[in-house]
Amino acid sequence: MTKSHPCAIGIDVGGSGIKGALVDVKRGKFITERYRIPTPENGSPLQIAGVIREIIDLLEAPADLPVGISFPAPIVAGVVPFMANLSQEWRGQHVASIIRQKVDRPIFVLNDADAAGYAEVRYGAAHGHRGTVIMLTLGTGIGSALVRQRRLIPNTELGHLILDNGITAERFASSAVYTQEGLSFEQWAERLTQVFSHINMLFSPDLFIVGGGISKHHKKFLPLIPLDTPIVPAKLRNAAGIIGAARVAYEEARR
Ligand code: BGC
Repeated sequence: MTKSHPCAIGIDVGGSGIKGALVDVKRGKFITERYRIPTPENGSPLQIAGVIREIIDLLEAPADLPVGISFPAPIVAGVVPFMANLSQEWRGQHVASIIRQKVDRPIFVLNDADAAGYAEVRYGAAHGHRGTVIMLTLGTGIGSALVRQRRLIPNTELGHLILDNGITAERFASSAVYTQEGLSFEQWAERLTQVFSHINMLFSPDLFIVGGGISKHHKKFLPLIPLDTPIVPAKLRNAAGIIGAARVAYEEARR
């Protein structure tokens, strides 16, 4: 690390894999390769912390570098109020305190979609945008990030919004549902249209960003969502969570 290239470690905890890299936080780019270890099935919080430690060790980063953790649940004052897609053992836990049992570094934890949205506003699809930007990540669940004037308003959890049909956005239109129900892109786009229209009506954003692994196929479904508000694919793809978490860790460590 040099003064012109400040960096931090970013870790993205997902339902199927835990990924991490060393990030140049000025440019929003990986400095090392991205390491991935499968998430232990039904893994306890301490087991997950152990995998995070393994990835950090692989990075061989200077000992004082902070770690940002992108985590698939809301994080309120460091604590997980509810957990949709990982072990229920996380509920009520202070995530950084658990990880600290395995990792002796400054640790900052935030919601995964918040990390991705923040990264897209700083370096990606909404770079320099000062209006209201909403990012939705389509994966096992649906995550959301709300950013206005480059400030993140955390824990919006719009994936749990109950639609007119009584089903939550996430259970109706995540990319996991698209796969499980064998939907065509047309059918899925109709569902996504309900989700986007509802959120559009509630928040009147200036821009939507769509992330998650499936966003690489954006040409197949984004044009099928008729909305006046522009919808663009994420630019940083599956790097966004890692980059956003590293950026937040860097900023928080300097406070
Ligand atoms: C969780 C969110 C998370 C999203 C994507 C949802 O089920 O409640 O916190 O951002 O999944 O992982």
